[in-house]
Amino acid sequence: MNNSPIGIFDSGVGGLTVAREIMRQLPDESIVYFGDTARVPYGSKSRDTIISFSRQIMKFLMTKQVKAIVVACNTASAFALETIAGETDIPVIGVIEPGAKAANEATENGRIGVIATEGTIKSNTYSKVLKEINPKLQVFSKACPLFVPLVEEGWQYDSVTYEIADRYLCDIMSYGIDTLVLGCTHYPLIRRTIQKVVGENVTLVSPAYETAKELESILCDKDIFADGRKVVHDFYVSDSVEKFRNFAGTILPCEVGSVECVNMEQYN
Ligand code: DGL
Repeated sequence: MNNSPIGIFDSGVGGLTVAREIMRQLPDESIVYFGDTARVPYGSKSRDTIISFSRQIMKFLMTKQVKAIVVACNTASAFALETIAGETDIPVIGVIEPGAKAANEATENGRIGVIATEGTIKSNTYSKVLKEINPKLQVFSKACPLFVPLVEEGWQYDSVTYEIADRYLCDIMSYGIDTLVLGCTHYPLIRRTIQKVVGENVTLVSPAYETAKELESILCDKDIFADGRKVVHDFYVSDSVEKFRNFAGTILPCEVGSVECVNMEQYN
């Protein structure tokens, strides 16, 4: 069991930012990553749809004998985490609670901004979790749906991205926030652009770091750390292996070897 892999999934490539952090903090662990590239984006889909996709992915990951699952997608964490975690005995963690904890620690004035997909913002999950952690917090949310396609187009540092970020963020900045949660897997990839828009006085919180920390503490509690003698990272997608491999190569610190395409229908 200890040398079994960690299952990580996302709607596509964005969750690789979380996988990267897990590889960095837990280098002895093997990973099975699934990116649902055929059905991305999740951010504009309904709760029921996301639950049914997440359930299929969990079934697939279980066939790889994973010892824990990380829901690296914010939208799936918002809509499906509770449901799928209740359907298995292994630990399942999402990115929202770790991100909220980090934001609560970072804020000094108690005014926190959250930017994410439409689904994550509509679910109100960040706001609920933040207020459970600290009822005094004031939370200001904004959906930024254009950020995901801009990142996937490779326009991280384009002036268009800066302009769009400026337009999205001016509302939220008017509330005097001192902390901004990057509540979508793709947003850390335009971190520099976002920081330029909000200024150096606003702390940007990326849930990936805290998620890896939480995973570490679960592996420690359950005494299921891998021994690091044979570390293997396997990648699976539901569409276009080539596109995934190219994008993954720009994010991950390691060689992206085998990427296999999986037909998700068989996991109904
Ligand atoms: N992975 C999604 C998230 O973090 C963003 C991309 C999508 O909409 O599928 O919410």
